[in-house]
Amino acid sequence: MGGDFRRAVVLMGMIFFLGLFPLLCVGRIGISRQRLEVQKHLNRLNKPAFKSIKSPDGDVIDCVHMAHQPAFDHPFLKNHTVQMRPSYHPEGLFDDSKVSSKSKAKTNSITQLWHLSGRCPEGTVPIRRTKHEDVLRASSVKRFGKKKHRTIPKPRSADPDLMNESGHQHAIAYVQGDKYYGAKATINVWEPKIQQANEFSLSQLWILGGSFGEDLNSIEAGWQVSPDLYGDNNTRLFTYWTSDAYQATGCYNLLCSGFIQINSEIAMGASIFPVSGYRGSQYDISILVWKDPKEGHWWMQFGNDYVLGYWPSFLFSYLADSASMIEWGGEVVNSQPDGQHTSTQMGSGHFPEEGFGKSSYFRNIQVVDGSNNLRAPKGIGTFTEQSNCYDVQNGNNGDWGNFFYYGGPGKNPNCP
Ligand SMILES: *[C@@H]1O[C@H](CO)[C@@H](O)[C@H](O)[C@H]1NC(C)=O
Ligand SMILES: *[C@@H]1O[C@H](CO)[C@@H](O)[C@H](O)[C@H]1NC(C)=O
Ligand SMILES: *[C@@H]1O[C@H](CO)[C@@H](O)[C@H](O)[C@H]1NC(C)=O
Repeated sequence: MGGDFRRAVVLMGMIFFLGLFPLLCVGRIGISRQRLEVQKHLNRLNKPAFKSIKSPDGDVIDCVHMAHQPAFDHPFLKNHTVQMRPSYHPEGLFDDSKVSSKSKAKTNSITQLWHLSGRCPEGTVPIRRTKHEDVLRASSVKRFGKKKHRTIPKPRSADPDLMNESGHQHAIAYVQGDKYYGAKATINVWEPKIQQANEFSLSQLWILGGSFGEDLNSIEAGWQVSPDLYGDNNTRLFTYWTSDAYQATGCYNLLCSGFIQINSEIAMGASIFPVSGYRGSQYDISILVWKDPKEGHWWMQFGNDYVLGYWPSFLFSYLADSASMIEWGGEVVNSQPDGQHTSTQMGSGHFPEEGFGKSSYFRNIQVVDGSNNLRAPKGIGTFTEQSNCYDVQNGNNGDWGNFFYYGGPGKNPNCP
């Protein structure tokens, strides 16, 4: 009896083990396949560095030889001759050299935190190294570094419900109805609080081509706080591009092949330092994006001194010709935790009424016209989904040209 029982137990144990064994193996293979896939992606993104710099915020900045940057993985760029400077630089009303001493005294220009630890040599480009855990935070390896679909602010949307459903909220100024060849703005920099790690808050300009269909072209640049993308709450310089409404093409920063960087001083995705304080010092960055009339590439400049590089014209369809709409402003994700509006802040987290030193602003907003000159935008509209959560107010004066204050706290008694 006892022997039978023991035999039965052993048998059951064996059956159990044999049943479990394949499961254990599949689990291990699943994990190691994912590791391998992540590692392969990291090998594509992180190019061999000439020198690496450890930033105080934990980033590693790799100084990568210009010819080895991710852009040149693109099949269309195999024989590309890098343009070391644009053939044309638009001139405008508001060159910062001409800005009056009054506004100069009140705002300060800024750089990037990693500069405290060193610089990249000429001939290299600084690239923020992507870590294993950065990729693991994405919904999939393929989606890492890409925006979710349907995030474009579409003023007077034909389908406002769709817009609310996606949870993205905006407070923007915009122009449309003309051909645009670039845009410029000076953007006040803050560190908005993010309630949930899967939300973000950003302030940027959008250069848009095409209708809002599946083939929308967009070039974007500004600052953002995105715990999902960067693993912290720091304010970072970013760019984005897509030629198919955020589906297969495009990415943030240098996280896919496309943008060709020529500058050795500014790293995309790196922390901006310092940022503005409420009733404290105000810091802002200038961003200019324009189309080179000769080569057709879209160039980007940061501040007065740093021409970062360009998006080759062939990446785009509509933007290969010109942009049909320009937008400037803020965007947050409202994931509606507990069915309530998120308390993720936009800009300074304060409403436009509070004005300078408290509310966030875009100043000297300009567009590049058909003669490649910077001009005051005509017929500026403003748009926000829920003005009691995030709002926008535009204005005009001699120093700041066309400007607007924007942003807000999200959840508050009027935005439950
Ligand atoms: C690059 O140049 C080689 C040799 O001239 C040529 O065979 C190839 O088609 C070119 N590739 C592209 C993408 O233009
Ligand atoms: C989005 O939803 C809010 C709250 O339900 C509503 O007040 C607002 O009008 C909606 N926005 C749009 C653009 O429909
Ligand atoms: C980011 O901020 C949120 C609160 O706003 C906090 O819960 C979270 O721990 C912060 N994340 C990091 C990586 O510091």
